[in-house]
Amino acid sequence: MTKGRPGEILVSEERLQARIEELAAEVARDYRDRDVLIVGVLKGAIFFIADLVRKLGMGCELDFMAVSSYGSNTHSSGVVRILKDLDHAIAGRHVLVVEDIIDSGLTLSYLLKNLASREPASLEVCTLLTKPRFRRLPLQPRYVGFDLPDVFVVGYGLDADEQYRHLPYIAAFEPDAS
Ligand code: IMP
Ligand code: MG
Repeated sequence: MTKGRPGEILVSEERLQARIEELAAEVARDYRDRDVLIVGVLKGAIFFIADLVRKLGMGCELDFMAVSSYGSNTHSSGVVRILKDLDHAIAGRHVLVVEDIIDSGLTLSYLLKNLASREPASLEVCTLLTKPRFRRLPLQPRYVGFDLPDVFVVGYGLDADEQYRHLPYIAAFEPDAS
């Protein structure tokens, strides 16, 4: 159990929504001639997916996956498990994976390898947030909302031990000194 509380607001609700508007416009432009299938990664990306899809201004299909790469602490366990798989096949589809945050890139690497083996027509990534560790890796998402410093964050879907997902902004998480 990680005890602590949300601290400094790193991305306000206004900045989040304005940037998501921009990302949605880019996605809508890039996929104007193709049917896009949005693959949301649960649970952290739920609010981002909901806002992004509503700002797209075009139809899209939605499917979800749930993976787990973290235990009840703020460090990667190095183990990725599929907790929920997609409902439908993606062969021949234009897939856009929507993620909340990329830290080590471990979760995304695993996910992309897994999805690529199902032979989609195209496979791109849209992540709301990235952290510095990830920027050293070769895999680059097509769409990125904000680059964060190397701090654990909560809010707008992101949790610390399942808490604080409901906050409308992104805040640094301040663990209790112990
Ligand atoms: P990665 O495998 O290290 O890239 O971690 C990716 C996943 O870990 C994300 O999809 C989040 O679910 C979780 N995660 C990473 N950093 C944070 C954070 O700062 N706050 C909350 N969850 C995080
Ligand atoms: Mg996640």
